[in-house]
Amino acid sequence: MSQREVTEAPSAETFGFVGARLFFQDLQAAIAGRGIFNVALAGGTSPQAMHRALVEEPYRSEIDWTLVHVFFGDERCVPEGHADRNDRAAFETLLGNIPIPSENVHRVDPLLPDADERLEAELRRHFKSFVPEFDLIVLGMGPDGHTASLFPGRASLDEPFRLVLGIQDSPKPPPERITFTLPLINAARHVLVLAPGAEKRALVLQVLAGRTDVPIARLSPTNGRVEFLVEPDTPPESQPEPKSAIAEMA
Ligand code: 6PG
Repeated sequence: MSQREVTEAPSAETFGFVGARLFFQDLQAAIAGRGIFNVALAGGTSPQAMHRALVEEPYRSEIDWTLVHVFFGDERCVPEGHADRNDRAAFETLLGNIPIPSENVHRVDPLLPDADERLEAELRRHFKSFVPEFDLIVLGMGPDGHTASLFPGRASLDEPFRLVLGIQDSPKPPPERITFTLPLINAARHVLVLAPGAEKRALVLQVLAGRTDVPIARLSPTNGRVEFLVEPDTPPESQPEPKSAIAEMA
């Protein structure tokens, strides 16, 4: 059974900084050990605070981005530059603000009919391995427990061999995507799931308590660990006092 852990950021405001620290720890270990850091970035909005923290000090002057290779855990099948593209958000918040060589950012055109096979080939070419072992795969998660573009009840969750799949029925728009599969994700040394907010925290704790019917419950790196980064519980006393109807009319 792979190691599962929860890391709690001190506050919502520090969530991105904690994520950046965890990213940097993996980067330092990988570069010290193997001279390269292979990472997959998450889509959605959750990684953006972490990305912005990585552009600032102390990381700005500490990271040698020429030793970092970036992939994307999933991408939406829309044109380059489209607001829905995960790589666009990553360039705006991170990749466009650091000195990373363009050849170190590994992408395929998700609109190509064989984009999944092309990305799979690029992975195998880069890693020189049949099942690539990422140092770090950063993932987001949805309120339904989906991660990357692996959604509840979809056949892609049970893919036993492919590293990357094209899907056409994402319940989260847009419907067409390419996504890392569980065989690839679970080959990573470290899977970091960014789970901000109370709803995602609750679902993470349910999964750690044994819930199995959601995709994030399938995260189980064979020779690695999965870490869920959550925000602190919001104690009831810190909730703003509900205004009485009368007070609101005053
Ligand atoms: C995507 C993402 C997806 C995302 C979650 C969380 O392409 O949509 O890969 O898995 O990470 O839906 O999205 P937010 O971070 O925006 O809540």
